[in-house]
Amino acid sequence: MTTQARPRPRSASLTVFSPAKINLYLRIVGKRPDGYHELETVMLPLDFGDQITLQSRKSGLTLACSNPSLPTDDSNLALRAAKNFVARWSVERGAKIALKKRTPLAAGLGGGSSNAAAVLRGLRRLWELPADDSMLHELAASMGSDVNFFLNDGAALCTGRGEKIETVPCRLSAAVLLVNPGFGISTKWAYENWAKAAEPRLTAPPPQVSLLLRALAEDDLAGVSRCLFNSLEAPSIRKFPVLELIKKTMRDDGAAGALMSGSGATVFGLFADPKAARQSAAHVRGQFGPSMWTKVTRFATVRHK
Ligand code: C5P
Repeated sequence: MTTQARPRPRSASLTVFSPAKINLYLRIVGKRPDGYHELETVMLPLDFGDQITLQSRKSGLTLACSNPSLPTDDSNLALRAAKNFVARWSVERGAKIALKKRTPLAAGLGGGSSNAAAVLRGLRRLWELPADDSMLHELAASMGSDVNFFLNDGAALCTGRGEKIETVPCRLSAAVLLVNPGFGISTKWAYENWAKAAEPRLTAPPPQVSLLLRALAEDDLAGVSRCLFNSLEAPSIRKFPVLELIKKTMRDDGAAGALMSGSGATVFGLFADPKAARQSAAHVRGQFGPSMWTKVTRFATVRHK
């Protein structure tokens, strides 16, 4: 379908929030013929993330980023999303994209995927295009396994390679302490090393995702903490033992549960008391040094559409 953008004033601009996520549960169900892994994962958007400003202009797409370590060429999902969007709907306009990056890179927090989803939704609004959600989802699925989750808003059980989304009720009010050790882990590396290290050595079966979903709906922090699980954690901890030490520190400081998010390297702790989370953040920085990035946040309760 070809849909042309309606003309808008040249200065039209829009600022959108691009939330980070954590995985409370990530179970690899098996390897797929296409090389990806079949997943069962529960992801929750956070009240913390990046900010993206989109400014409509006559022609051309450009990206500027506040973090100089992040490339601003086509390898950046935010720019790729804009290019795909313009091509898909034959838009005869351009845009300037400004990305204020707060989320650490290659961190298991979904930063790039969230930026891509925010750009897709933002451009649709900026140019008032009649692209429906299913069309955006189709485009999102071609750009990465987590982009669909961020188009969707709210907590979700994700299957397939992560792109099949089922929204789930979540009332979890815990404070979330994020700790990034200052190095990234490649998602590809994490998956490739899963078979060598994780499940074959499990002594107990993974927790049931249905128990986690019930605990999330009931704001049952103890129940949620009992169900935290990540198939990708074991290989990363084997290579970077500091991740286990950070988790232990958070648990000693009162976290009800702690886990690595996604393919890492960020680990998170869930605390009933935000003050204890802030104290633990200071403790982690004191114990492991200034390379530790910490952030205390909550799960997102607002819709970002
Ligand atoms: O889909 P995305 O680009 O985020 O994935 C990055 C890499 O992570 C893939 O190239 C693949 O190696 C691995 N991956 C996987 N199974 C998934 C998701 C990602 O093997 N379900």
